[in-house]
Amino acid sequence: MCGIAGYLGPKPADSVLIVALERLKYRGYDSAGLAVMSDGEIHLRRAAGKLKQLSDLIEAQPVDGHCGIAHTRWATHGAPTEINCHPHLASGGPYDGRIAVVHNGIIENHEQLRRELTQAGAIFRSETDTEVIPQLIAHHYRGDALAAVRAAVARLEGSFAFAVVFADHPRRIVAVRQGSPLLVGKGRAYDAGEPAAEGSTASFAKAGRTSVREMLLASDVPALLPHAHQVCFLADGQIADLTDQGLALSDFAGQPVEAEFKAIEVTAEAVSKGSFDSFMAKEIAEQPAVLARLLDSRLRGGALVEPDLGLDLASVNHVVFLAAGTSWHAALLGKRFLEQLARIHVEVDISSEYRYRNPVASGNTLVVAISQSGETADTLAGLRLARAKFIPVVGLVNTVTSTIARESNGVMPLLAGPEIGVASTKAYTAQVLALYLFALQVARAKGLLDAAAEAQAVAAARALPELAATTLASAEEPVEEAADIFAAAQATVFLGRGGEHPTALEGALKLKELAYVHAVGYPAGEFKHGPIALVTSHLPVICLCPRDALYEKMLSNLQEVRARAGRVIAVGQGGDRALRDLSDHLFPVARAGEDLLQPLLSVLPLQRYAYHVARRRNCDVDQPRNLAKSVTVE
Ligand code: AGP
Ligand code: GLU
Repeated sequence: MCGIAGYLGPKPADSVLIVALERLKYRGYDSAGLAVMSDGEIHLRRAAGKLKQLSDLIEAQPVDGHCGIAHTRWATHGAPTEINCHPHLASGGPYDGRIAVVHNGIIENHEQLRRELTQAGAIFRSETDTEVIPQLIAHHYRGDALAAVRAAVARLEGSFAFAVVFADHPRRIVAVRQGSPLLVGKGRAYDAGEPAAEGSTASFAKAGRTSVREMLLASDVPALLPHAHQVCFLADGQIADLTDQGLALSDFAGQPVEAEFKAIEVTAEAVSKGSFDSFMAKEIAEQPAVLARLLDSRLRGGALVEPDLGLDLASVNHVVFLAAGTSWHAALLGKRFLEQLARIHVEVDISSEYRYRNPVASGNTLVVAISQSGETADTLAGLRLARAKFIPVVGLVNTVTSTIARESNGVMPLLAGPEIGVASTKAYTAQVLALYLFALQVARAKGLLDAAAEAQAVAAARALPELAATTLASAEEPVEEAADIFAAAQATVFLGRGGEHPTALEGALKLKELAYVHAVGYPAGEFKHGPIALVTSHLPVICLCPRDALYEKMLSNLQEVRARAGRVIAVGQGGDRALRDLSDHLFPVARAGEDLLQPLLSVLPLQRYAYHVARRRNCDVDQPRNLAKSVTVE
């Protein structure tokens, strides 16, 4: 959930690390800190609150050094205060202040270790679980950095990606990966005295180095840019030793491991806001292009091109979707697609439930793990449980270098580009489209999709990018008008039927996580079974009401709200006069060529509505409070 970074090279470490944290703060942002080696000492700079607090502190108190580690936090143990900020130091004993650690994950046996280490003389200063790591390393340290880290790792239980610096080893970073993502970036080599672009300082030449290779460490690829051009993804159970000569990789037993570097394909532009005021605004606007890119990768002319999933889809008779949050909403639509098109039995499970319910596996079950980040701990745990039961797993992910992608039998990439905004938008609509194409693939494998039906389904999918662009453009003004009126509403209800029920859930989640409004989505048919008691003249009720097979039923639900003086915001076709007459506001959406695909368009104005309400409530749309983009802790 938090972000880790490390830098070793000719540039000022504090400047490089602050930029890296900017690129990682979507992973957690309640506090931040860094440790830089300078003159044989470890210099800490830490600040609670937004990352700007730390960058202001460093501007006021820079550290002259070329090796350091940094951390942006999403607190699990201990309040987001300065004393609980990473990096944490070893303290008490001979290495007091001479070993620093940043950590992503949870040390589950931290209390027992804290007791043992305190008895051995360690002095704990924070409330975090993390602080046991530098203390444990110091407890084992006798000059050999790798040996001490290995001894410490042998005692740790839980999930941990961490980086360590030692005052005794001023140009070295040791890093460990177990259960949370961590990767190493390789830059180019520099000769001592050669300028390392703007900002290089004479102290680098003073170090008497003949040459150094620039090395970086991070929780995610964007933080390596623009310094590194190659990346090595650490696997669980590996220790990275970064020095001026590069990377030495080994396993926890000390056996050397071959480091595999790949070219970095993400560009700095892809992880910048460009001309938009937020990543969320940029990513909502990117959706037509994202849908088009996904379609181009899966269609050749009018025919469906199938990614090689390494599976015989014709024999699949039972699919279990595993997902969390927005990805779970996409899974609900995936269920509809597979049931309608491929006529197979589908279960949709929330990952954190699946992993503890000892599921029954039948002979022809396929698990599909849906995850934008590919690192969600609960979804990964569900995947591993399925694999342990010899159930094949397909990963539907946006980050194809992620752990879920690497541990799946087959991968369906979303190709949505990096999604930085904590609230998932373009990844959601890409997931829905990818699931539709997957359902067509299964239907064809089962001989249920003839050429005419395939051509019709493909034509409907092909039309989506333009329909999405039209919808975003036509809905903007009515969305802003409604946001002006209802921005102060403390509660909002979303109602939908059939495929629009997941849309109602997703619209509610967006408003919850972005504007902190108590928003709830219901299947519209359920509303009269109790929740309709919520309706007052102050309550906005957003009704998903496209002209699909359940349109008339939805109109009745809408009438029931109006009869109780509820404020109705309808989402439906712009030319629908009956709907417009029954609503206080209408968000117009284009009509999809297939009813199954309509929810992909209906969600678009709800994304913009949540964005505008959040802006009017002065909420940070890219870094909502209490959240992180990738939930890598359980
Ligand atoms: C979505 O807006 C939320 N940020 C959250 O629910 C997210 O969808 C969930 O944490 C799952 O993330 P994943 O797709 O990366 O697994
Ligand atoms: N458990 C550590 C802490 O609370 C790290 C949290 C994280 O990985 O987000 O500081």
